[in-house]
Amino acid sequence: MPGFDFDTLTDRRGTHSSQWDNMETLFGVSPKDGLGMWTADSDYATAPCVRDVVRAAADHSLFGYFADYRDYHDAIAWWMRTRHGWTIENDWILTTQGLGNAVALCIDVWSQPGDAVVIFTPVYHEFARKITTAGRVVTECPLARVGDRYELDLEDAQSRLTGNEKFIIWCSPQNPSGRIWTVAELNAVADFAARNGLLLVSDEVHHDLVYRGQTFVPMAVAAPEARDRLITATAASKTFNIAGQKTGNLIIADARLRGEMAARLRSLDYVANGLGLRMVTAAYSAQGAAWADAQMLHLDSVRQIFDAGVNAIPGVRSLPLQSTYLGWVDFSGTGMSDAEILARVHSVARIAAAPGPQFGAGGEGLMRFTLATSHARVAEAVSRLERAFADLQ
Ligand SMILES: Cc1ncc(COP(=O)(O)O)c(C=O)c1O
Repeated sequence: MPGFDFDTLTDRRGTHSSQWDNMETLFGVSPKDGLGMWTADSDYATAPCVRDVVRAAADHSLFGYFADYRDYHDAIAWWMRTRHGWTIENDWILTTQGLGNAVALCIDVWSQPGDAVVIFTPVYHEFARKITTAGRVVTECPLARVGDRYELDLEDAQSRLTGNEKFIIWCSPQNPSGRIWTVAELNAVADFAARNGLLLVSDEVHHDLVYRGQTFVPMAVAAPEARDRLITATAASKTFNIAGQKTGNLIIADARLRGEMAARLRSLDYVANGLGLRMVTAAYSAQGAAWADAQMLHLDSVRQIFDAGVNAIPGVRSLPLQSTYLGWVDFSGTGMSDAEILARVHSVARIAAAPGPQFGAGGEGLMRFTLATSHARVAEAVSRLERAFADLQ
């Protein structure tokens, strides 16, 4: 890619990498001969502008208390305006320890034990885990699969509500399907929330990972009338591969909602990590934007290799992505059970990919493969899958 290298990989094994160092414990696939493709982070290094700010901080070697968030807030506001057409005020931004934490905080602040939270599945599995861990109840509303595409079925969703729901955790773009929601769909979700008196937490962490020809629109832009019920969660972590820095944001225009979250953050003595703040500030810049654009060209190229190889295996289909680097592969055409699919992918192909059922209803028969790696590694994954399912040829 012009000026940037996404194909030279550093060995991440034994480097405190969850992707590689947890795969054996979680999936029984040894990093010695296996491929780590289950979690949403990248194998290639972050943008040079992010690396440089960490080097400068190391040279400075003073890591005392951090003050003055202005640059950080300005950088976020610049990014949202220039990349996503969304004008925000600096004081709408509340910083959390990443987005998993942001979602958990929303559950904590805006619901009580026993209350229910709506999710549209298949969706990022941690939403359900965070809801149940906090003693709340999941109201699972399956998306409708129409061919290769997921669509909303709000009539069905309405019939599933119990009356105990307090809010929706919405995922846009959607993990794991990579679906980019249209403005009409976003408005339909906002109307659904309003009709049912629900807050709307829109997790937009994958918003930069959008393929050519697709347009991501933030919920706040698509449905401005949802302002008094909307909480947007964003982070630079997926785009720039800095998830380990645990720096995310809740962007809340409504003063009452923002005040409620700010009070909780104060009571917990939440203070953001100074190095994470510097990295995000460096990422949300013109240099960071150039790197992010180059990354999308790389991802577009590797996903084509992946799709072509996987789709040549009878009964297996890589669903076309509109966004994200998460290959979402449907094995149901093989007629195999989830246990057999897992056994072939994990034990025969030796690929630690994420099992579809963990993403909730609609994930049966599918698996998720992280493609944010080199061309060579994606090609290797394809040939392992071809061999593991060779008897179907
Ligand atoms: C939709 C979504 N939200 C939140 C997260 C977690 O974000 P963080 O690593 O910042 O906690 C992920 C990670 O994959 C994700 O896909």
